[in-house]
Order: sequence, then C-alpha cells, then structure tokens
Amino acid sequence: MTSQELRKKFLDFFVQKGHKMISSAPLVPENDPTVLFTTAGMHPLVPYLLGQPHALGQRLCSSQKCIRTGDIDDVGDNTHLTFFEMLGNWSLGDYFKREAIEWSFDFLTKELGIPLERLAFSVFKGEPENNISCDEEAADIWQKLGVLVKRIAYLGREDNWWGPAGQTGPCGPDTEMFYWTGEDPAPQKFNPFDKHWVEVWNNVFMEYNKKIKNQKSKIKKTNKDSKIKIDYEFIPLKQKNVDTGMGLERTLAVLNGKSNVYETDLFTPIINEIKNQISKIKNINQNSKIDEIKAQRIIADHIKAATFILSEGVAPANTERGYVARRLIRRAIRYGKILGIEQEFMPKIAQAVIQIYQDVYSEVKNNQQFIFNELEKEEIKFRKTLERGLKELDKLDKVDAEKAFFIYQTYGFPLEMIQEELAKKALAVDAVGFQAQVKKHQELSRSASAGKFKSGLTDHSQATVKLHTAAHLLHQALRQVLGDKVHQAGSNITSERLRFDFSYSQKLTDAEMAQIEKIVNEQIQMDLPVKCETMPYQQAIDSGALAFFKDRYPEKVNVYSIGKFSREVCAGPHIKHLDELGKFKILKQESVGANLRRIKAILE
Ligand code: ALA
Repeated sequence: MTSQELRKKFLDFFVQKGHKMISSAPLVPENDPTVLFTTAGMHPLVPYLLGQPHALGQRLCSSQKCIRTGDIDDVGDNTHLTFFEMLGNWSLGDYFKREAIEWSFDFLTKELGIPLERLAFSVFKGEPENNISCDEEAADIWQKLGVLVKRIAYLGREDNWWGPAGQTGPCGPDTEMFYWTGEDPAPQKFNPFDKHWVEVWNNVFMEYNKKIKNQKSKIKKTNKDSKIKIDYEFIPLKQKNVDTGMGLERTLAVLNGKSNVYETDLFTPIINEIKNQISKIKNINQNSKIDEIKAQRIIADHIKAATFILSEGVAPANTERGYVARRLIRRAIRYGKILGIEQEFMPKIAQAVIQIYQDVYSEVKNNQQFIFNELEKEEIKFRKTLERGLKELDKLDKVDAEKAFFIYQTYGFPLEMIQEELAKKALAVDAVGFQAQVKKHQELSRSASAGKFKSGLTDHSQATVKLHTAAHLLHQALRQVLGDKVHQAGSNITSERLRFDFSYSQKLTDAEMAQIEKIVNEQIQMDLPVKCETMPYQQAIDSGALAFFKDRYPEKVNVYSIGKFSREVCAGPHIKHLDELGKFKILKQESVGANLRRIKAILE
C-alpha cells in the first residue's frame, strides 16, 4: 500500500462515518505559545475540545503535519521520527468510547485487513488519588469485539494518559493499539514493552481539563534550592471528546511488512539520494565502526524535518524554531561527514523530500527556492565550524568524558564522530561518562524549558483574547499604512504581549509606526462591535474577508468583523467590544527573515 492510499483510506473511512475533513494546520502554531511546533493533530483543535463550536460541526478528521523534537535521540531506530504525519478523527462532544473503539477496530481489521492475532491493546489502569477510575469500559468494548483478555494491558499515566505538550489543557485516558512486527505467531500474552509490538494508533478520551490549582506554594528543598510546587486539578470538561492519532509512517511500514519506516515510499527516494551522495566519496573508510544505516536514517529524518520547517518561512537561527532547524541541519551534516560526505549535499536531499510531498503539502514546492538557499547557506557556514572543531580535536592527546562533552557542545560533534577521529590516533573516549554528561545537561535544559512554556492556548484568559482582537486591528492598520501587499505571516499571542509577523521588506519608519499605533487606538476609542458569522469559505472571500492561509481552510469558516474596519477569516475567540482593550502600544519591530518583519505590542 502506498502512503497516498493509506491517507485516503483513513480519511474516506471517517468521512463515511459523518466526519468533515480539515486540512493540516501549519507546523508553526498560529496562536499558541506553549509549543514551538504542532506536535499532534489535536493541537489546532484545542479551542474546540474546550467547547467552542467548530464551523464544520462535531466530527472532524485530518492528516496533520507534526514535529516532535523530544525523541531526537531515538531517531534512527525503526519507528521514531522528527517529522511525521498523524491521521486523526475527532468527536467534539459527539460520539465517545464505544464508537471510537469500534471504528478503530473496523478500520484496522476490515479496511486494512490486519489479522486480529497481530494486534494488542492497552487501556488506562486508573488513578484513585485523582478520582479517575480504571478504564474497564474501554477494555470491555475491545473484548466484545473479540480481543482476548491476554492481549489487553492496563497501564498508568506514563503510557495511557494523553494531554497536549504544554502543562495544562484538555486531556484524558487513552487506549492504544499495537501491531506485532516480530515473527509469527505473535505471543499470546501482550507485553507492551517488547519492541516488536509497535504502537500504531491512540484513541484519547478527552474528558478533563488539566488546570493549575495553586501556583504559588513554595516548598523549600534546601537552603540554596527552592522548588515551586504546582498542584493540578482535573476538571471534567463540558463535553466529552475523542482525539485519535495514527502514525502514518509506522502504519504504512507494518502494512507493507517492513520492519522500519525508512523502507516506505515516504523515505526510500531520500535514502536513495543519500546513497547516491555516498557513492561519490573517493576514499571510503573501510575500518569505520559507524552504524552506516543509522547515520543514513538520521540524515533522512533531519533533512525532511528541516525542509518542512523552512517551508513555513523559518530560517536557521540561534533561538526557538530557527534553532531547531539549525540543529537538525547541522546534525545531518555531521552524520554525513561521519559517512565521508564532504561535498555539499543538503539541497539535493531536500529535493527528494519535496518530490515526495509536493502534491500533498504544496508549501514545500512553493517555497523550494527559500529552502534550497537557506540549506546551502547553513551548510557552507557549518562546514567552516566543523573544520575548526576537527583541528581542536586533533590537538588533543588525551580525552576524558568532560572534554569530549565540551567538544560535543561547542562544535556539535556527536560521540561517534569524536570516537572516529580519536581512533585514528588510537585514543578512546569514556562513552559511559560521556552519556552521563549528556543526561545531566538534558535535565538542566528540560527544567529550563518547562519554566518557559507556562501559559497557553488553553489559557483563554481575557488578556490573551484581547490581544488576539488587537492583532486583527494591527493587521488592518498595517495594510492601511504600508499597502495591501502586507499580509499576516504568523502570530503568537500570550496573555502578556502579541507578536505579529507580516510580509514587508523594509524597516518601518518612526512616522509609520506612530501612524499604525494611532489608527489602532482610534478604532478602540470608537468602541466598534466585534461580530462573528459562519459561512462557506468562498462566500467569506467574496464578502471581502482576509484569509491568508489559503490551502488550509475548511469549507465553512468563521468570519470576524470589527465594525467596518476589519474583516478576517479566523477561528477566534475575540472580545465583543473594543473599549475593553485599553491602550495599544507597539514595543518594537524587527526583521525575522527576508521580506518578513515582526512587531511586538501590548495593551496597557
Ligand atoms: N493526540 C493523541 C496523540 O498524539 C492522539 O497520540
């Protein structure tokens, strides 16, 4: 089965069950500061899972582009990827456990024809301390469909509970479906920790909203160190939702009898191009101990993910999303170097990625020139750094774990590369000590980023919603002052400030900035009403509504208008009257790429 066929089969199946298909949201979330990237199909749907009505109704399905960077050390094994597609179906307060499980069962066993002997399931084992009971209901439904008790595992929060990547928001117990990839017959008793059982699908029963109970109580740990203790509570949601996610690449691999995702049509052209690059190497290192297959897989994964990130206008940089892109590109180059690839090869591999996806995600094709240019620039720059790092390494005659970690951090050399280089001089690195250093560092950065992502889309606080309405005013004011060519390229709103990216190639003058601020404040003073109407997408456009993410709108959309001043297609929410906004103030402007500027603003 091809990837196209599997995507289509899944979406057709759920459309037949009354779902409306929605197109993939961007990887860069529009109004969610909790995460850098969209990590699951539910991400763009959070407001609707929390109760806001969706213009297309209560049953939706999609194939969503996702990026997860937490698993980067697992990339190169059979199933973990940085970029992947998630097939999903949702009930927004409509059907619940029974239908969700029965349809999953039918899709797997009938549509895809997977024999039940190869499937196993896990359910949530309960959490009495939070008043959440064991999910016997889900286990019963599986059993009634013919699943043997031995093939159902009861697991805890680590495995069978799902919520978005931020700390708070809609969440709930889930039931997961596993496919046996080992030799036949599959063991009678399901052991979810045996790697031959590959998770292919997850059904989350989102019936809770995880909220912060008390943020302030501090527990002193030691004199020097104090830790904020956050208590959470699980408030039942107004509506019971279903959120499912099937990994397209994994499912495709197992259906085709492949042990890993790299042997599917979503990867083979990329791997072939990497092999083609390897074939150009003059002096292949015959003694290399490098796991060549793994290095090829890492390169393929990373360049694919970087290509998709770049396709949304993010350029390699030292912070946030740009940093993720940079890290992926550089890691790919290093693994290329380990394999002996010295020639520039990034754009060639990206070309193969674009070929695979251009008909599904046209942004990769439309922005290919930007992608190639950025990859090339980054590759040239990084190859120079690499040379410096190698010289540094060459000077050493003894390497302890800390020194190796220093080289790894400063020049970004992976352990394998350090080992390879030192082996030439018959030196060895303390790999265990090295891993201990990596772990220590990871823990430090994890706690730093946990602090960073504190509020979110799930925070529909008045302050965030007000800034969202202010963003619409800013958008229109920009167009009035700078011309109609200006359009929104992204935004990011927290309860404290708004960040608005738009297409424009020059620095705004002080007079332009003042004029924009003035226009926004004039509208606020006029206390214009904010109105929301639902209508077909085409009608919205014909009525003059702005909509700049063309490919991604459902057939029916919400149009928010602010008096006669602004009219935009938008998911909302917004405030009702402008006088609630107070005073609008631009804090700064900056350039965030070619033809892309950013304004940060607040409401006082
Ligand atoms: N949101 C769920 C997941 O990502 C379906 O697994």
